[in-house]
Amino acid sequence: MKRIKAIYPGSFDPPTNGHLDLIERGSKIFDELVVAILRNPEKDPLFSVADRRKMLEAMTADFDNVSVDTFDGLTVDYALRMEAQALLRGIRAISDYEYELQMALMNRKLRPTLETVFMMPAEKYSYLSSRLVREVAQLGGSIDCLVPELVAQKVREKMDVAHKFEKGEPSAGKMPSGGTIRPRKKKA
Ligand code: PNS
Repeated sequence: MKRIKAIYPGSFDPPTNGHLDLIERGSKIFDELVVAILRNPEKDPLFSVADRRKMLEAMTADFDNVSVDTFDGLTVDYALRMEAQALLRGIRAISDYEYELQMALMNRKLRPTLETVFMMPAEKYSYLSSRLVREVAQLGGSIDCLVPELVAQKVREKMDVAHKFEKGEPSAGKMPSGGTIRPRKKKA
């Protein structure tokens, strides 16, 4: 019997409850699902690829058919190397559709046999994005219900280091690998 392997590509900076929701849904319809983190040298991420990988591995440890990997270059080339038949992408709202459709059609042009499958996360995550999680955390808001606890903890650690750095505390030590972190907004 033919087994269907899918790639769920993305930046996952950081991974959110919305990503986890989609991974769970994907794991139910595909025989194998590979969560693939793009190694993008042009972006200035909050978390290093290694950190994101660790977080995603911990988040998906209970799913037997889900693995985590990293890639660079074209997603379609990575999918070919991985012998995957499908790409999984999430659509939260109509606003996602235009960009996702464009990307899916370009990927189809590059590799016609690779299907993009869109899935919707639970409604309660329809407003959730990694970018907003970073922004809320950087401005001192709570991200507790937006990301798994282990991710919230890592984000808090990043923000604390940034805060100490800003205050010039020697205990801040070396800036962790990753990218730009802005300090938490000071409480009035
Ligand atoms: O989580 P993101 O940032 O929305 O994910 C975007 C991603 C990584 C899926 C997309 O940028 C991508 O596929 N990049 C790899 C390069 C590539 O294949 N570009 C052509 C896409 S049409």
